[in-house]
Amino acid sequence: MSAMRFSESVTGTIQDGVLVVTIDNPPVNAISAHVRQGLVEALDHGALLGLVVGMVVTGAGRTFVGGADIKEFGKPPVEPTLPEVIERVESCDKPIVAAVNGAALGGGCELALACHGRIASDMASFGMPEVKLGIVPGAGGTMRLPRLIGTIAAIDLIGSGRMIKAAEALSLGLVDGVAADHLDAALSLVHDLAGEPLRRTGLLDVPATEQAAVEAVAKKVLSKSRGQTAPAEAVRLVKTAAQVDLKQGLADERATFLRLRDSTEAAALRHVFFAERQAGKVDKLDGIAARKMETVGIVGTGLMGAGIAVAALTVGYRVIGVEQTHEAADKGRERIAGTLDKSVQSGRLAAAGRDDCLARLAVTADAGQLAAADLVIEAVFDDLTVKTELFQRLDGIVRPDAILATNTSYLNPDEIAAATAHPERVVGLHFFSPANIMRLVEIVDCKATSPDVLASALAFAKRLGKLPIVCGVTEGFIGNRIFSAYRREAEFMVEDGAAPHEIDAALEAYGFPMGIFAVYDMAGLEIAWARRKRQAATRDPKARYVEIADKLCEAGRFGRKAGRGWYDYASGERMVVPEVTALIEAARAAKDIEPRHFSAEEIFTRLLKAMSDEGAALLSEGIATRSSDIDLVMINGYGFPAHKGGPMFAADDRA
Ligand code: 3HC
Repeated sequence: MSAMRFSESVTGTIQDGVLVVTIDNPPVNAISAHVRQGLVEALDHGALLGLVVGMVVTGAGRTFVGGADIKEFGKPPVEPTLPEVIERVESCDKPIVAAVNGAALGGGCELALACHGRIASDMASFGMPEVKLGIVPGAGGTMRLPRLIGTIAAIDLIGSGRMIKAAEALSLGLVDGVAADHLDAALSLVHDLAGEPLRRTGLLDVPATEQAAVEAVAKKVLSKSRGQTAPAEAVRLVKTAAQVDLKQGLADERATFLRLRDSTEAAALRHVFFAERQAGKVDKLDGIAARKMETVGIVGTGLMGAGIAVAALTVGYRVIGVEQTHEAADKGRERIAGTLDKSVQSGRLAAAGRDDCLARLAVTADAGQLAAADLVIEAVFDDLTVKTELFQRLDGIVRPDAILATNTSYLNPDEIAAATAHPERVVGLHFFSPANIMRLVEIVDCKATSPDVLASALAFAKRLGKLPIVCGVTEGFIGNRIFSAYRREAEFMVEDGAAPHEIDAALEAYGFPMGIFAVYDMAGLEIAWARRKRQAATRDPKARYVEIADKLCEAGRFGRKAGRGWYDYASGERMVVPEVTALIEAARAAKDIEPRHFSAEEIFTRLLKAMSDEGAALLSEGIATRSSDIDLVMINGYGFPAHKGGPMFAADDRA
């Protein structure tokens, strides 16, 4: 029989007496309105065709179904709804088997759950990532998943939004089988199920589980979602699955889904989702190919260099680390090996991968070996003379087609590039520490950087699995420039009467994992102090300057490592101490400032304004391309809570 078309994105063929329905809605087979309509048509058709034993549902391409169509959120609803389609699937009197060819996420996983059997290909993955979008599953996931795999595993998956591979899905009982030829296996399962009483997931009993174990997993999952509403609601719904009947549970789930879908938290997280997909897209690079790169040289194997090395090794690059002496090279190799060990311990790297990584690593005191590198990244001391001399030396060592990248945080990469014979091959790659873990990389498009060098730097960062944000040259790039503005504002408020712990409390209440003064202490105060001393001669004498941080450094209060900074850490916890309060009061008195009270609302409003004003300046100067890029930098590099959408989104939302 020839192919049947049920809608613009759903087709069917009859194979071996089974109606095979394929969802083909690129790029990710989201269940848009025409997919839902096509599925209902297919169900009607399958039911009408007396010759058909049952149905298989599968996806075209690499994805099974990527979930509900997020682009439809916020638009008027179009019938049939996903819960209606899913109800039709589950109640069908002929067996329906999901042949899960790729990712089955959110509504896609819910569709698979409603089928009477599930076969996964080796490439399949499963997940309920709704909480990452500020919502809960809205088509039965919180009610059907616990019935199939138990409350504990369901809380873990739905509350965290994590994805699992086919093998884990099989061990949890989420699928009935994993097969390289998943379609054949699904067809044969339909025949096995035909004529038998169908196992409808929604009608199963939730397996009994000890309450204490349920509470323990709920606590663990929720500890990672501070300040967010959706994970707690998702966990609540999964827990109720064992207590209420299916109909009541589904109604509660749907109402919660609709309420959260229209919340600011969900709008913020959708903004972040689409912002991430936009990031790294640069119009001027259309049609420009990235260079092929296999070997990465890293000069300096301290904390930052070692982190970059691990990130590169883990995805298959050869790495040549360069140090000044043999002893330093040995230490660098040890540091990289130690970081790889930690990756294995935390599950980021398979144990077998460690040796494979080390086999691709050389750490040497012979800079001449960088002649083999396609890309050389410097991660040495952040000093202009050190970096320009290094780049001049590299000019004479590396191949003519090699790319040179600087990891500077504050220096001007144009000045570093100008010291070389070929500034067009210089680009900034500003990693965040620890570089093997932090996703953010600012890619600095310098004055002379050639388009293919920029395209190659982007491709490199993407292969590392990073979130690359392209920006222009300015002191501190996007992140540190905004951070400086926000720190300055925080210090103004301290001088005017707010206590550092009040500012930190306001930020933490908003959702930052740590307030700015605690971050300051964590990072250490001495590097910024040294920079301020260097800049003292060129500082505008009329500009307001708060000396409190300098006074802390003069008193040896360099931060957490020193046991004292803005706070004291003698007990391990951060503590407000009279010495710092006295120092702040003295600074106010020296300027005749009468301290006043700041409410948490005023503190946060001023800090947000400082961030978003600086962001607006970066946009108008052409340093940042899009305001959503700024949001991603602050979320991924500086702890801005993702569920608030970033400073630009949050400021717009408050306007
Ligand atoms: N709806 C609409 N568009 C989507 C989408 C979705 N669910 N998922 C992805 N897209 C779009 C992206 O915006 C992107 O568009 P662009 O090319 O215009 O930028 C394109 O598809 C490709 O996306 P990726 O770049 O992310 O492609 P990958 O191959 O890297 O990843 C994926 C594929 C794993 C499916 C990933 O896109 C993903 O995680 N998607 C979101 C999954 C999700 O959150 N699903 C739950 C939705 S909510 C839901 O189902 C509610 C239900 O319970 C009722």
